[in-house]
Amino acid sequence: MANYKYFDVETVTPRIGAIIHGLNLNEEISTEAFDELHEAWMQHLVLFFRDQQITHTELLRFGRRFGELHIHPAAPYIDGNPALMKIHTSKDSFRNNGEGWHSDVSADEEPPGATILHIQQTPSQGGDTLWANMYEAYDALSEPIKHLLLELTAIHAANYTGFYGDHPPQRESPRSEHPVIRTHPVTGRKALFINSGFTRQIKVLRRWESDALLDMLFEHIKNPNFHCRFQWQPDSIALWDNRCTQHLAVWDYFPETRSGVRVTVKGGRPY
Ligand code: SIN
Repeated sequence: MANYKYFDVETVTPRIGAIIHGLNLNEEISTEAFDELHEAWMQHLVLFFRDQQITHTELLRFGRRFGELHIHPAAPYIDGNPALMKIHTSKDSFRNNGEGWHSDVSADEEPPGATILHIQQTPSQGGDTLWANMYEAYDALSEPIKHLLLELTAIHAANYTGFYGDHPPQRESPRSEHPVIRTHPVTGRKALFINSGFTRQIKVLRRWESDALLDMLFEHIKNPNFHCRFQWQPDSIALWDNRCTQHLAVWDYFPETRSGVRVTVKGGRPY
């Protein structure tokens, strides 16, 4: 365990993920402790917290420490507050949120930076989430491929029609153009920024070239060397950085229920 002043950090893998011990997110965190937490987040990309009995108001307050909250275009929400996205899969579900590799709502012009997910109800087994480190995915590419990708932008588009049953959307499904390689605004590191959930086409290339290149990159990010996997317990929280990770939620627990609430924070326009 690495030593920090305000909490302890237990790494999940050498490349991504860490469990934070000794911090209650339902309490107001001092500026010094928050700065240290932010530093640990920048280093490990996904932070996990166990046994957090946190109210929705406290979760929103924690989210606002990272910036202006992001509103999902279409997802159902809790307490009449669209900033509290409902995450719920049960025997009545026809799909599971986040089943494929994705970076949250990357089709938005300003996609989320931070996502905070509080899982309250877990199935008896399963329902893990996996995250992949997109700095490592970029670093592992050969120089000629990096060189090519640095020149390119891609179209990200969402289509939420029917996604959430009859729930009416907040706004139209977004569509945006983003660089294929983005620079993280805090760390300055380069990260691969395509995902099979939202990235539809690389601009300028011929259609078949774009399809082949995207397929190659979608396969590349599946390399377990870039991953960590988290087993949820009731009242676990994950905080991840969509600017340099993508994730996938496993639905291996049907017909059991997994339930929680998600708060996201705007992450600025990718560059
Ligand atoms: C999501 O993509 O935000 C859902 C992740 C999860 O349910 O683990």
